[in-house]
Amino acid sequence: MMDGKFNDERYLTFALGKGRLANKTLEVLEQIGITCEEMKDKNSRKLIFVNEELKMKFFLAKGPDVPTYVELGSADVGVVGYDTVLEENRNVYEVLDLGFGKCRMCVCGPASARELLLHHERIRVASKYPNIAKDYFYNKKHQTVDIIKLNGSVELGPLVQLSDVIVDIVETGSTLKENGLEVLEEVCPLSARMIVNPVSMQMEKARIRDLVLRIREYLSKQA
Ligand code: PRP
Repeated sequence: MMDGKFNDERYLTFALGKGRLANKTLEVLEQIGITCEEMKDKNSRKLIFVNEELKMKFFLAKGPDVPTYVELGSADVGVVGYDTVLEENRNVYEVLDLGFGKCRMCVCGPASARELLLHHERIRVASKYPNIAKDYFYNKKHQTVDIIKLNGSVELGPLVQLSDVIVDIVETGSTLKENGLEVLEEVCPLSARMIVNPVSMQMEKARIRDLVLRIREYLSKQA
């Protein structure tokens, strides 16, 4: 029978974007009493970690895959950067801004590219985030541009004349500085977000609401 007991026994599955965000997320979860001892073993090659007591499962995935796992229901909950949420544009609910992993999505380039932006020239834009770049230039700035998808070290684009500007994440700004580039325009601020599968949102309403409330309460005390 589909009673409360049944729901309690279902695992709530979390997909976490590998790297700093996952570590920070695990820290926060630990602070609110959700621990996963198994996951702390750095030498382990295991992919899925279970907390039997809390009926929770955790797995680490490449950031851009997190919204995929959440939309398709392999994970109920995901934690990933807002850059990835925007770029992947999946059918998921965004339930919480975790406030960490703060940085900015920016249009960057050499100072000389300011003119090109000002005059709405047809420029070449390199980015790991082609959808964000397209949305910004086409829908917000009404500027026709050519977008070149890269997979990393995007700052190279203007340095080797692949592109006029880039759309990329700026955190401290030191990568730009060390390469003679600068922020030309800000696209949007970024931070880590918690996303939820729409069906899980209904089926696991109480557990998810409780989780969000506890994290929010913890974060507000930190602020
Ligand atoms: C990110 C981003 C910038 C850099 C910004 O790259 O794409 O290159 O960090 O940080 P900063 O403003 O503090 O210098 P990441 O290290 O993730 O590698 P990637 O460029 O190869 O994706």
